[in-house]
Amino acid sequence: MSATLPASPEVKITETECFIGGEWVPAVSGKTFATINPATEQEIAQIAEGDQADVDAAAKAAHKAFESGPWSTMDARDRGKLMFALAQRMEDEIDDLARLETLDNGKPLGDSRNVDLPLAIDCLRYYAGYADKIHGSTIPIRGNHLCYTRREPVGVAGQIIPWNFPILMVAWKWGPALASGCTVVMKPAEQTPLTCLRLAQLAKEVGIPDGVINVVPGYGPTAGSALVKHPLVDKIAFTGEHRTAQIITRESADTLKRLTFELGGKSPNVIFADADMDAAVEGAYVGLFLNQGQCCCAGSRVFVEASRHDEFVEKLQKRTAQRKVGNPFADDTDQGPQVDQAQFDKILSYIEKGKQEGADCVAGGERVGDKGYFVAPTIFDNVRDDMAIATDEIFGPVLSVLTFDDKEDMIRRANNTFYGLAAAVWTRDISVAHDFAARVRAGTIWVNCYDVFDAAAPFGGFKMSGYGRELGEEGLKAYTENKTVTIAL
Ligand code: NAI
Ligand code: MG
Repeated sequence: MSATLPASPEVKITETECFIGGEWVPAVSGKTFATINPATEQEIAQIAEGDQADVDAAAKAAHKAFESGPWSTMDARDRGKLMFALAQRMEDEIDDLARLETLDNGKPLGDSRNVDLPLAIDCLRYYAGYADKIHGSTIPIRGNHLCYTRREPVGVAGQIIPWNFPILMVAWKWGPALASGCTVVMKPAEQTPLTCLRLAQLAKEVGIPDGVINVVPGYGPTAGSALVKHPLVDKIAFTGEHRTAQIITRESADTLKRLTFELGGKSPNVIFADADMDAAVEGAYVGLFLNQGQCCCAGSRVFVEASRHDEFVEKLQKRTAQRKVGNPFADDTDQGPQVDQAQFDKILSYIEKGKQEGADCVAGGERVGDKGYFVAPTIFDNVRDDMAIATDEIFGPVLSVLTFDDKEDMIRRANNTFYGLAAAVWTRDISVAHDFAARVRAGTIWVNCYDVFDAAAPFGGFKMSGYGRELGEEGLKAYTENKTVTIAL
C-alpha cells in the first residue's frame, strides 16, 4: 500500500452556478461554497450556494416547463430521442466526465471511467427507450361504460442526491423522471456538485428544453429543505442517510409529497461451507471495498460458516494486502480517499470502537499517509453481533467477519438489523440459496455474486433502508400518477 500525494490533473471546471430555467445564474444571496479535492484536501472551485430563494426560482421554472412548456406537449418518442442524445453526449465526453468525477469524489479514475459512467449512460438509454412505452389499460367495469387508465407524470420532481456515486445518481433520478414527462429540480450533494452541473449543461446543449432540468447546488438544511417544503414540488426522490429521510418525511408532511427513499444498509454477505471459496473471497472483497466502502449496499457483515472461517480470513487478508491505496488518477490505484473530513473521521472512530470492543483487527486499522482522506482497507475478525461495527453503517473500507454454525440461527442474525437493503449468499446448494432469498428481508438478494446492477432490475430497501424502488419499471412508476377515466356509452 502506498499513498503518494496525488498530482492535480488538468480538469477544466466550466459550470459552477445554479442552472435555472436553462440559464446559469449565481445564487440570489451571492454566496458560494468550496468543493474540495479529497485526495489533496485542497479547494477545486467555488460553487454557487443556493438556498430558499434559488430553489423557489427553480421550482417555478420547473412548474412552468411542466404546465406550459414544450415538454408537456412533446411526443413521448421525441422526449426519448432527447434522452438518447444526452446519453450519447455523455459517451462522447466520457473521459472528461470521468476525470471530473474522480477529481470531486476521489474514486479511482478506472472506476469512474469503466463502472460509474457506463452504468449511468446505460440507465439513461434504458429509460429513454421507455418514454414511448408508458401507457395505461382498459378495464371491464360493470355497466355500459368504457373505463381506461392513463399513466401521467407526477409533476415537478425534487431530487436530492448523495456524493458516493454522483453521476450515477443523476442518471437514476433523471432517467425515470424525464421518460415519464416530469420536470426536475435537483440538489446535488455539497461534496460533489461538479458532474451534476456539467450534465445540466450537456442536457441544454442536446436540446432538452429550458426549465425541464434545474440544478440548485447547496446544503441540505437550506437548499434541500426548501425543496422538500416547496408547494410547487410534487415529489421528492432522496438518496442518503435514514436520519435525513426522517427529517424529509416530517418537512414534507404539510404538502403531502410523494416520497421515494434509497437509504443505508448493513447488508449480510453469507458464505456457506460448500461455497466456491475463491469466488466468495472475491465477492466479500469487492462487496465491501468497492468505492472506498461508500456503498449503500456494502456487504459489511460477512458471515462465514465456522468450518471454513480460518481459510476465508487468510485468503481475504492476502487479497486485501494487494489493494493499492493512493492517487485516484494513477493507473494502478484500487482505492482512493474517502469523500470528506466528516466521513474520514466517522470511519476512524468506528475503527477505534471496533478495537475497544474487542474485535481483532487483522488488516489495516489506520489512515494512510498524512494528507488526503485515505483509510487503509480494514478487516475485523471475531466480531460479535452487538458490536457497533456490526450494527452501524460505517460507510468506509471496514469489513466485519462473523461466524455461524447453524443456518436457522444465521438467517435470524442476518435479519437482526433495522436495515434491509441487500444480502448475498454463497453456496452450491440451490435449496439453501432459494430459502435464503425468500427469508432474508432485503430489497436485493445476490446468489454467488455481489454488486450486480442493471438499469432494468429494481433496487431499494425493506425497513429503514427506504421505500419505493428505483430502476426498472417500478422505478418509472414512482414518477407517475394513475388516472382512471370512465365514459358512459
Ligand atoms: P445526507 O443524507 O445528510 O446527505 C445526502 C443528501 O441529502 C445531500 O445532498 C445533502 O445535502 C442532503 N440533505 C442533508 N440534510 C438534508 C435536509 N435536512 N433536507 C434535505 N436534504 C438534506 O448524508 P451525509 O451526511 O452525506 O452522510 C451521512 C451518512 O449517511 C453516511 O456516513 C452514510 O452512512 C449515509 N449515506 C448513505 C448513502 C446511500 O447511498 N444510501 C449516501 C450518502 C450517505
Ligand atoms: Mg448529513
